[in-house]
Amino acid sequence: MKLTEAINSRHSVRQFTDQPVDRDLIKKVVKLAQQAPSWVNSQPWQVYCAMGKSLAQIKTAYHEEDLAGNHGHPDLAVMSREDWSDGTQANMKQWRHGIVHHFATFDEAHQQMTEASQTLYNSPVILYITIPKASPDWSILDAGAFGQTLMLAATDLGLGSIPTYNSVRFPDILHQILNVPDDERFIEGISLGYEKKAKINSYRSERRPLGEVLHFSD
Ligand SMILES: Cc1cc2nc3c(=O)[nH]c(=O)nc-3n(C[C@H](O)[C@H](O)[C@H](O)COP(=O)(O)O)c2cc1C
Repeated sequence: MKLTEAINSRHSVRQFTDQPVDRDLIKKVVKLAQQAPSWVNSQPWQVYCAMGKSLAQIKTAYHEEDLAGNHGHPDLAVMSREDWSDGTQANMKQWRHGIVHHFATFDEAHQQMTEASQTLYNSPVILYITIPKASPDWSILDAGAFGQTLMLAATDLGLGSIPTYNSVRFPDILHQILNVPDDERFIEGISLGYEKKAKINSYRSERRPLGEVLHFSD
């Protein structure tokens, strides 16, 4: 697959099939992600692969938190929507309207998105990306580059993916089940697997016109 094709065809998959992902394929994806650039080649990332029993335990523990009405406390703080800049709020609003339009009614969209997030997308694999607590903000940028490289590699190798905040809402559960040292913090979880043919997966998010993003100065 050409790189431009991988870039254009990657999209967030919110429902995966039950088909497991081969360990060697996961290794290939992560090895390619390691080519991402980082500050002085610090490579701050660690990857914890939850699958099989450990992922089942995480899904059960998260479900219990959801039933108890707990929203979570991710290591990277969530900012209230009203505090974001006007432009980014408008983009998020457009995305939400797009989803409702895709499903025809607000209730259907809400139900489908809630079910997807509460089941952690039925993904057979979640790759949890951490960085040391002793890190500058630059390491978050590095982890982001690592994550995107990983998802493009996954696309190239026939796998669907979604990066989520949802999967890192309860870091204490993740530390315990995945045996992650206390001096690391969770940046995101990237679900991997085979995309299910489902309406939720046919939604495509839009992007701002290039002229609103790119500013030449010569
Ligand atoms: C850091 C990060 C966290 C995200 N968390 C979630 C999440 O918790 N739930 C979700 O459904 N999508 C999540 N997404 C996916 C975004 O909604 C998605 O990337 C965006 O709408 C663009 O769509 P696309 O990935 O299909 O191009 C997250 C994306 C990023 C980069």
